[in-house]
This record gives sequence, C-alpha cells and structure tokens, in this order.
Amino acid sequence: MVDEELMKKIQNLKKRNNAIILAHNYQLPEIQDIADFVGDSLDLAKKATETNADHIIFCGVNFMAETAKILNPDKVVIHPDLDSRCPMADMVDVESLSWLQSRYPDAATVSYVNTTADIKAVSDVCCTSSNAVKVIKSLKNDKVIFVPDRNLGSYVKRFVKDKEIILWPGMCPTHHNLINKEDILKLKEEHPNAEVMVHPECKPEVIDIADFVFSTNGMVKHAKESKSREFIVGTERELCYRLKKENPDKEFYPVSRAVCPNMKKITLEKVMYSLENLEPELELSKDTIERARKPLTRMMEIGRGD
Ligand code: 13P
Ligand code: SF4
Repeated sequence: MVDEELMKKIQNLKKRNNAIILAHNYQLPEIQDIADFVGDSLDLAKKATETNADHIIFCGVNFMAETAKILNPDKVVIHPDLDSRCPMADMVDVESLSWLQSRYPDAATVSYVNTTADIKAVSDVCCTSSNAVKVIKSLKNDKVIFVPDRNLGSYVKRFVKDKEIILWPGMCPTHHNLINKEDILKLKEEHPNAEVMVHPECKPEVIDIADFVFSTNGMVKHAKESKSREFIVGTERELCYRLKKENPDKEFYPVSRAVCPNMKKITLEKVMYSLENLEPELELSKDTIERARKPLTRMMEIGRGD
C-alpha cells in the first residue's frame, strides 16, 4: 500500500502535467495502487483512446505502451522503463513473417497484440486473449497465419474448425514454462472446492484441466460473478493482488513461481521519475503508426469476446 504523502505528490504531479497512469494487471501492487486504471491489454487499449490527458504514463510491457501510442499519436506516451519488453513479442520478426506470408498468399495475418508495432504494421487484424476466437471467426479467409503465441493459437483452433490456422512457434516463458499441469493438480488437491481459471497462453495440457479459460480481465469479471469462494489462478501471480483487493471475502491461489520479470521492471521510483521529468517517451515513426493503426482499430471494432 502506498503512503498518503507519496499519493499526494503523485496526484499533484498528475494534475500539473495533465497525466493519467494506466497499469496492467501484472504490475507490482504499489503500481496498481497508484494507477488511475488497471486492466488487461484490450481494456487498457480502449482506455487509452478515451482519455483527455495529454500524457499517458503506461505501466506495462512495451507492446502495451506502443498500442497506446498507435491509437493516440498526438499524445505523449511515457513508458517508465523502455527495457520492460515482452519476450514473446520479440519471438517474431518482420523478415521471417514476410517469408511465411509469401508461402500463404491467401491467408489473413492475425497478430496477437503481444507483438511489436512493426509486426502489427504487416498484419490484417490484431487480437487479444479476450477476443482471439471472435476475431478469427470474423474473417472471410479460409487460411489464417497466427503470430506469435502457439498456445493461444492452439486454443483458438478448438473453436474454429472451418479454417486452417498456421501457428508461429512462439510462447510466453511465464505461462508456458512456469505453469505446469502438475502445479494445477497439486493446487486442486490442496483446494478441492476451488474453481480453476487459466490464461489461454498456458499449454494445452493445462487448459485441458481448467474449468475456465479467460483473459486477465475475464478472470476479474468471473471471480466477481461466481458463487465460488476459492479460485486457482493459472496466470502471472500478481493478478491475485487485484483479485483479492476487489474480492476480500474470497481466496485466490496462484502458481507461486509464475512471475513475468519484465512486468516487474516498472517500479514506483521509475513512475515518480517519469511524472517529474515526463520521460522516457515512447516513440514510433509516423509511417509505423499509420500502418499499425489499421489492424488495431479493426480489433477494437470487434470488441471483447469474454
Ligand atoms: P491479458 O490481455 O489477458 O491481460 O494478457 C496480456 C498478457 O501479456 C498475458 O501474458
Ligand atoms: Fe509477455 Fe508472458 Fe510477460 Fe505476458 S506474461 S507480458 S506474454 S512474457
């Protein structure tokens, strides 16, 4: 929890600079506490388009801050640590993707929002974990190239039988390597009455034993609405901070080693520095912004799927 004096300082700096703080659900508790809005990738993108603030302090990984900039080219987007990058987003590069696109000229390219702006710029439409199935179902093409998460792509395949979905071999190191079937089974043994919610970035064998598969905001919504009082949470463990804060009478059990180290690079000190100095600013070329905006806008028009 953040002390009152610090909170006052942050509020004053925000007012002075007409700034808003947006934070992803995996951010450190103290960052979630000072944020104006905490959400998943899709809701943060939406929030970025709705704000009147001149400065957006974006507490999340690079692709999230880039998305805010692409959707708001006239605003200053400040990313308190430019090294806070999503390793999965860096698993696909433009040259290799162009080669695959040349092999499947009739295929639509769907890029998970966890990609760099350069990849979005050569994609037809983007999606997030909340609407991947809905986005792919909306396409007329019989073939789809899906980058970069093979686990999310495999999950989509369970619901889309009339299209060939070509998967890229990327994955999230946190969800793929640190959340195993055995971890979930052990938690189930310890908490037999708990509902199991997992993120679609998890491996298929983890998804197979879950009761629900949701984006992080999907989990927040479900935890509120469910009659269950206990939940096993198969995603980055900091989501449990928000879940517990919003549902103090319920219990949440994360896989304790499921941490995304890049999300933790944003600290309160760095946010304070950003508010005081209005840097480091996230910059993208005009051309990249223009090309990447189309697939993102198309996704925003499709909306949530969970
Ligand atoms: P959400 O959009 O579900 O929050 O997921 C983002 C992410 O990076 C998951 O690892
Ligand atoms: Fe990227 Fe995985 Fe971290 Fe999400 S949890 S930001 S997909 S590395």
